[in-house]
Amino acid sequence: MKAILLKRAGRAKGLVLTEVPIPIPGQTEVLIRIHATTVTRGDVVLRKLPKLLTRLVGETPKSTLGHEFAGVVTAVGAMVDRFEVGNRVFGTTTGLTHGAYSEYLCAPQDGILATIPSGITFEDAAPVPVGAMAALHFLREGGVVSDKRVLINGASGSVGSFAVQIAKQLGAHVTGVSSTSNVELVESLGADEVIDYTKQDFTEGSQRYDVIFDAVGKTSPKRTRSVLAEHGMFVTTQKLRQERLDDLLAVRDLVAAGVVKAVIDRYYTLEQIPEAHQYVEQGHKRGNVVILVSGR
Ligand SMILES: NC(=O)c1ccc[n+]([C@@H]2O[C@H](COP(=O)([O-])OP(=O)(O)OC[C@H]3O[C@@H](n4cnc5c(N)ncnc54)[C@H](OP(=O)(O)O)[C@@H]3O)[C@@H](O)[C@H]2O)c1
Repeated sequence: MKAILLKRAGRAKGLVLTEVPIPIPGQTEVLIRIHATTVTRGDVVLRKLPKLLTRLVGETPKSTLGHEFAGVVTAVGAMVDRFEVGNRVFGTTTGLTHGAYSEYLCAPQDGILATIPSGITFEDAAPVPVGAMAALHFLREGGVVSDKRVLINGASGSVGSFAVQIAKQLGAHVTGVSSTSNVELVESLGADEVIDYTKQDFTEGSQRYDVIFDAVGKTSPKRTRSVLAEHGMFVTTQKLRQERLDDLLAVRDLVAAGVVKAVIDRYYTLEQIPEAHQYVEQGHKRGNVVILVSGR
C-alpha cells in the first residue's frame, strides 16, 4: 500500500511517499481502508518535532502522521465484537505508532473509533474528530450553557468553526472573531455577531463575555481580562487535552442531527500531502484541509 512516511522531522519535504506492506490486525484490532484524512495544525507541529520532544508533549512518535481519518473496516481480529467488516468508521490515531496518511490503518476496537452516521460522506466525516472534539471539550471547560455570552477567537479555523456551531447548539450567544474575508463564513455558521479583527480589537470593546475561547492561540488571559465578565472564564486550545470516546460519540450525534458540519477549505490527494502541510502551516486555512486518499 501507499503511505506517506515521516522520514525526517522538520520541513514538509521530509514527508515521503513510500510503498509499505498492508498491516495485519491484531486480535482486538480492525483493519481500515482509509478514504479520507486531514492535515491538522497538530500534524504540522508533530512533523517538526524530534521524537524525544514528541514524547515530552504526551504524544506517541509516529512513522506516519495523520491524526484523524474516515474509512471502511475491511478485516477484524478474532476478538473484535464492536465492529464488523463493511462498517464505515471515523476516529483518531492517538496513542498509535502509525497515523492515517496511508491507504490502510490498524486501530484498536476500543480506541477513539465510531461508526459514521448514515448520509455523511468520508470527506465530511474525516475532519470531525479532532476539531469538533476539541471544540466540545473546551466549551465544556468554559462552562458554556444556554444564554451565556461566548466569544470565539479564530472562529474561521477548524476548532473555531466547530465551536461556533456547537456553542449555538448549546444555546449560547456567540460572537466570532475573524478577518474580513471570513466574516460571511462565520455568520453562516450561526454566530450572532462577528468582529473583524482587522478593523476592531475585541479587547478594547465595551461588551463583556462570560466565556472567551481562544480557539486559535492568538490571545491571552491578560490581554482579554478587561472584556471578561465577573466570574467569566478564559479557555484556550493551547493546552493538552485527553481524547475520550464519549466526546466522539457526542459530536457524532451532532453531525447525525445536522447540527454540526465540517467546513472544508481545500482537498489534496495522498501524494500531495507535503503541499497540504505547507498550506496548513501558514495558519490561514478556513476550517479543514482534507486528503482524499482513495479519490472520490
Ligand atoms: N489542545 C487540543 O486538543 C487542540 C486540538 C486541535 C487544535 N489545537 C490547536 O489549536 C490551534 C488552532 O487549530 P485550528 O486547526 O483550529 O487552526 P487553523 O484552522 O489553522 O486556524 C486558522 C484560522 O485562524 C484564523 N486566524 C489566524 N490568525 C488569527 C487571529 N489573530 N485572530 C483570529 N483569527 C485568526 C485564520 O484566518 P485569517 O488568517 O484570515 O484570520 C484561519 O481561518 C492550533 O494551535 C492547534 O495546534 C489544539
